Amino acid sequence: TTGGSDAAKRRAGERAAEAVADGDVVGLGTGSTTAYAIEAIGRAVDDGLEVRGIATSFQSRQLALEEGISLTELDAVEGVDLAIDGADRVVDDPESAAHGTLIKGGGAAHTREKLVDASADRFVVVADPSKLTDRLEASVPVAVLPEAHTVVAERIAELGGEATLRDAEHKDGPVVTDAGNLVLDCAFGPIGEPGELAERLSSLPGVVEHGLFVDVADATYVGTDDGVEVRRY
Ligand code: A5P
Repeated sequence: TTGGSDAAKRRAGERAAEAVADGDVVGLGTGSTTAYAIEAIGRAVDDGLEVRGIATSFQSRQLALEEGISLTELDAVEGVDLAIDGADRVVDDPESAAHGTLIKGGGAAHTREKLVDASADRFVVVADPSKLTDRLEASVPVAVLPEAHTVVAERIAELGGEATLRDAEHKDGPVVTDAGNLVLDCAFGPIGEPGELAERLSSLPGVVEHGLFVDVADATYVGTDDGVEVRRY
């Protein structure tokens, strides 16, 4: 969990849940903001809404099960109608080519998140104002095959970044993702060309997925203290 107030997150999540239509296949993102959306979808299911969810993490799967949302898998559906997911950073600058670019992976779930979010006809980001930035300079989470972490860290250094293996809080040793990979948090300083960096990171052998989401989001719902602001891309 990162970011701003729970009330703002709740507003964003609940507004996004209103976009779910009967019969939809819905991508269920990860994190505290999306959790409010999943809970709201659960209440709608109690009231008769029929949806099938695709979880992006152990956390979102557990919550969906608790909420009584039917689950399916990406390879069992013909398409994903809508994905709802949080973000750690959202570029918010209509003048910039990077407007709507995201950094995700604070919860180490970005590999499956990107797969599901990018597969959706519509991907709605849910965020609070603390996630908005006009300049991307947060570190980029990069999921790597376990045996690749030192090799990838060297390549990251060649790209001008500094890679730190993410340590687990309640375990001796590194964070291991739901898919069994490790996470390098890569600090590059200000990221001028996120599209270019995204391509370079994707091309490194041993990289499973990175947390730069370029041209993936269709809209961001920003919960504020008194409402929801919508950005469309
Ligand atoms: C998971 O890997 C992340 O991409 C989350 O979606 C992100 O950390 C947002 O989390 P919060 O909604 O809890 O801030």
